[in-house]
Amino acid sequence: MTSTTQAPQSGARTAHPEHLGHVIFIAAAAAMGGFLFGYDSSVINGAVEAIRGRYDVGSAALAQVIAIALIGCAIGAATAGRIADRIGRIRCMQIAAVLFTVSAVGSALPFALWDLALWRVVGGFAIGMASVIGPAYIAEVAPPAYRGRLGSFQQAAIVVGIAISQLVNWGLLNAAGGDQRGKLMGLEAWQVMLGVMVVPAVLYGLLSFAIPESPRFLISVGKHDRARQILAEVEGDHAGLDGRVREIETAMKREEKSSFRDLLGGGFFFKPIVWIGIGLSVFQQFVGINVAFYYSSTLWQSVGVDPTDSFFYSFTTSIINIVGTVIAMIFVDRVGRKPLALIGSVGMAVGLALEAWAFSYDLVGGKLPATQGWVALIAAHVFVLFFALSWGVVVWVMLGEMFPNKIRAAALGVAAAAQWIANWAITASFPSLADWNLSATYIIYTVFAALSIPFVLKFVKETKGKSLEEMG
Ligand code: GLC
Repeated sequence: MTSTTQAPQSGARTAHPEHLGHVIFIAAAAAMGGFLFGYDSSVINGAVEAIRGRYDVGSAALAQVIAIALIGCAIGAATAGRIADRIGRIRCMQIAAVLFTVSAVGSALPFALWDLALWRVVGGFAIGMASVIGPAYIAEVAPPAYRGRLGSFQQAAIVVGIAISQLVNWGLLNAAGGDQRGKLMGLEAWQVMLGVMVVPAVLYGLLSFAIPESPRFLISVGKHDRARQILAEVEGDHAGLDGRVREIETAMKREEKSSFRDLLGGGFFFKPIVWIGIGLSVFQQFVGINVAFYYSSTLWQSVGVDPTDSFFYSFTTSIINIVGTVIAMIFVDRVGRKPLALIGSVGMAVGLALEAWAFSYDLVGGKLPATQGWVALIAAHVFVLFFALSWGVVVWVMLGEMFPNKIRAAALGVAAAAQWIANWAITASFPSLADWNLSATYIIYTVFAALSIPFVLKFVKETKGKSLEEMG
């Protein structure tokens, strides 16, 4: 045992620098699930037209095949918490990795539309699992002083996954002569787009063998020595370590064994803290963030960009998303989660209101007037930037850390399931709402961005710098 006099009690709060590299590796490996989340949920955009052509389906049926994956996500998220509490965080990651792999192969080589839909549901289930297990695991392993930054690896991986899927789609499309059904390696281009996911999926599975189980889970199943060893790996072997193990154990004993019933209470079905998690999730989606990603080419075309170039411009949205995420990673542990969320809400509301104004003008020949067109484009980027530097990162970080130990995984599962349902509600309703009144649709999103301000002020508690045992 190496004793480090520099980090006594405070070792609980700050990782000894020599361990930081190791902790970063652990968080990055776990965040691979986030990469698959981003890649898988956005890759389908490049394959939609080919699937329509190959299986000769109408828009409504096609929309169902695509949306059904989001239902898989909701079910995966809702069950992952329970699975993780029973068999551990690492094994849960391994199950997700297998499902991602199976889904990638199945969706790349379907027999018919029905099994393609089935493989997308399987992939959705894996995405749902990854969306729960990444934040929970990282929060449980990270030393408090770095937890926000390490937790934001998940969102960083999601946004990089989205960007890479756009690049892969674009590269494969070009290689196949601009035709989603053009031949590549004996397959059609869209099949390769979906199949490429095997690579990160297998890597995720392999990496999960190289990282330790969460010390909180180990303590919950009585493996104290192993938990102490892992805490020493991540926090440094300091004098207060035995005290930390006891602190975690006492906090867990207070709560006994976890079950779905533990989420209930407080008169409104779920406990208030679970509702706050659900609220964070729903607001994150109801500002319409995924409309900005899933329907971005429609926006670009309405300002006169040629459909074939709209891919490139959609990619600029991803770059802004990455830049915003990096800004959030720098500030999340310095200024805290709440101030970031509030700044983000204000910026998003302004961007969305400007979009609503621009879209209140009639399209002429499918285009907005020049000034309104530019305002719409700039406002859309302002919106994505403010989302990325706030709610994108803050929600996933907070969902990982805000719940008491015993209900963490299960409560996060419920909140993440709510997020997938909210995502589905927004993305499925957008086309009809846009046909009805595009400007009014953006006013609805603006109202949600504005309402998120009093929600955060009244209900959300700052979690920056606290140990997980101080939550709840
Ligand atoms: C967050 C959202 C996700 C969205 C992404 C965009 O991770 O949960 O729905 O696609 O941000 O960056």
